[in-house]
Amino acid sequence: MARKIIIDCDPGQDDAVALFLAFASPDELDLLAITTVAGNVRLDLTQRNARLMCDIAGKHDVPVYAGCAEPMSRALRTAEMIHGDTGINGIEVFEPETPLQSEHAVDYIIRMLLAADEASVTLVPVGPLTNIATAIDREPAILPHIEQIVLMGGAMREGGNRTPSAEFNILVDPDAADIVFKCGRPITQMGLDVTHQVLSTEDRVARIRALQNPVATATADMLRFFDRFDTKKYTSKGAPLHDPCTIAWLLKPELFEGKECNVSVETRSELTLGHTAVDFWQVTDRPLNVNWIYGVDADGFYDLLIERLDRFGA
Ligand code: RIB
Ligand code: CA
Repeated sequence: MARKIIIDCDPGQDDAVALFLAFASPDELDLLAITTVAGNVRLDLTQRNARLMCDIAGKHDVPVYAGCAEPMSRALRTAEMIHGDTGINGIEVFEPETPLQSEHAVDYIIRMLLAADEASVTLVPVGPLTNIATAIDREPAILPHIEQIVLMGGAMREGGNRTPSAEFNILVDPDAADIVFKCGRPITQMGLDVTHQVLSTEDRVARIRALQNPVATATADMLRFFDRFDTKKYTSKGAPLHDPCTIAWLLKPELFEGKECNVSVETRSELTLGHTAVDFWQVTDRPLNVNWIYGVDADGFYDLLIERLDRFGA
């Protein structure tokens, strides 16, 4: 039976690839909806970009909702320096046919979860956690209906990518992250420690481009743009494919290695705001609230991604 999921995202080239991977896996994943949030770029762009990915993949029937345009209690920080001014630089932007639902994403999340069976829906947030936390804060009765939360965000050994000690998704809305990490539902967390192991190297992008279908071509074009910042910054070979790690874990968890840990979020310090304190060695008695993913078979990850992207050629 396919797992019911919603993807909450801020496309973002890597968010887009996560959407493509989910679109290509209907036997395992029943994608109920895409909810969008401000993050990499403003909300009017992230919601347009999500709908544009639906068009490229021919998935016009997936409902797309726009959510929060600002973090819960702070000013928005965006990341055009990484993703470009459209948020999905690397491909031509057009006005998508896929419609935007009129309901606010938070209202949709609450309505959908209250109507769902207990522990029946997996939430996959891959941007700032504002929509998810706002829904939990407004209607805690949704919590028993959430099967688990599989999120991209945070870091331990990798420090931070937007400040020396904070990863972007958590930094943008640390108060939202604090609510999610304390919500009591099972969480699997893909931080920079694992996402920095899945680099979109030239040969991997070439394998994607060689598939020669519109989705694979769009993926290769977006990755060609997306990798320029991280390659220069980390002198790595290709940009880390952060967000698709969440979907890949749902499809093939055996590709990953994780450990139950406490993860807590810094919400006050100016110096370390948004830091995720991962108690990997369990030196505190804080609750084990997260399955912290720290290892991945990177070749196996790309083999899975390429096998699924190839399905768009059929
Ligand atoms: O730090 C990486 C995360 O920030 C990814 O989700 C990327 O899309 C950006 O949102
Ligand atoms: Ca993202």
